[in-house]
Amino acid sequence: METVVSGIRSTGNLHLGNYYGAIQNFVKMQHEYNCYFFIADLHSLTTHPTPDNLHSNVKSVLVEYLAAGIDPDKATIYVQSDVPEVTELYLYLNMNAYMGELERSTSFKDKVRAHPDNVNAGLLTYPVLMAADILIHRATKVPVGKDQEQHLEMARTFGNRFNRLYKHEYFPEPYAFNFSSNLVKIPGLDGKGKMGKSEGEGNAIYLSDSPEAIRKKVMRAVTDSGPTVENQEKPDYIQNLFDLMKVVSTPDTIAHFDNLYNTMQVRYGDLKKQLAEDMIVATAPIRERINDIANNADYLRKVAHQGAEKARESASKTIREVREIIGFREF
Ligand code: TRP
Repeated sequence: METVVSGIRSTGNLHLGNYYGAIQNFVKMQHEYNCYFFIADLHSLTTHPTPDNLHSNVKSVLVEYLAAGIDPDKATIYVQSDVPEVTELYLYLNMNAYMGELERSTSFKDKVRAHPDNVNAGLLTYPVLMAADILIHRATKVPVGKDQEQHLEMARTFGNRFNRLYKHEYFPEPYAFNFSSNLVKIPGLDGKGKMGKSEGEGNAIYLSDSPEAIRKKVMRAVTDSGPTVENQEKPDYIQNLFDLMKVVSTPDTIAHFDNLYNTMQVRYGDLKKQLAEDMIVATAPIRERINDIANNADYLRKVAHQGAEKARESASKTIREVREIIGFREF
């Protein structure tokens, strides 16, 4: 079985875009691959969260991934800081990561531009830590979005460099992995681009949103006064609403509103009401599980311990071999 690794940054709650764009895929993958899904809390230290914030963010990600269907008996779900082997490998890889290439990374340059007052070394070596996350399980498949492509390339570089330096074909090359060919893009509600938390409060529907909150956000989505000729092409912000329907509504509902649009009889208020109700139904089981799991401290503790144990089994094997290869030998 091939090994899959993906890290989830513990910043904020999961939204429909995360769920339909990524997590649903994780849920399918866990049956066919040796999957490690971890919460990247070490990475989050670059922005200096308070201890309380750090913990509550890790908890909400853990709760929401479990609620969304990640099965801790199938996939290994763990908290990155529970696996100290990762930071050890990070140190070794840092010795062969060059300032120049780290400074050239797009994400580093973006962060320097966004926060010139907090250009810490952890930010510079973020790609090395990410490489350690992947290489620690000698994974070959990494389900991540396009924005992580450069980080993955660096992970391959660091792994290959290690192999070359020590003349050992030890780390395999990790590549981006799209499990299902029909990856859905989930648009946001602001009519502009994809759903995301950085685009403002009303743009994203969160899995933990109450039905009331969902209704409010959807009703506020951008529309216009309606089509002026039959079969008019839909502007982006209207197409977005239809794209969201494709995910949560029945084909009949979509055909119904499509038909109304094409005959210039559509009432966007009705369309949005329907969309909101369908979103509420689609997310209801997850919402209920979020509440149950968040209140079940025993279960969360058990899952985190079990995940850490399984992850450390794989990680400590790698570290043992890496130490041997490097020349840290026992007397
Ligand atoms: N950098 C990733 C992101 O921003 C998160 C991440 C950290 C990750 N370590 C990883 C993803 C290892 C995949 C594999 O989304």
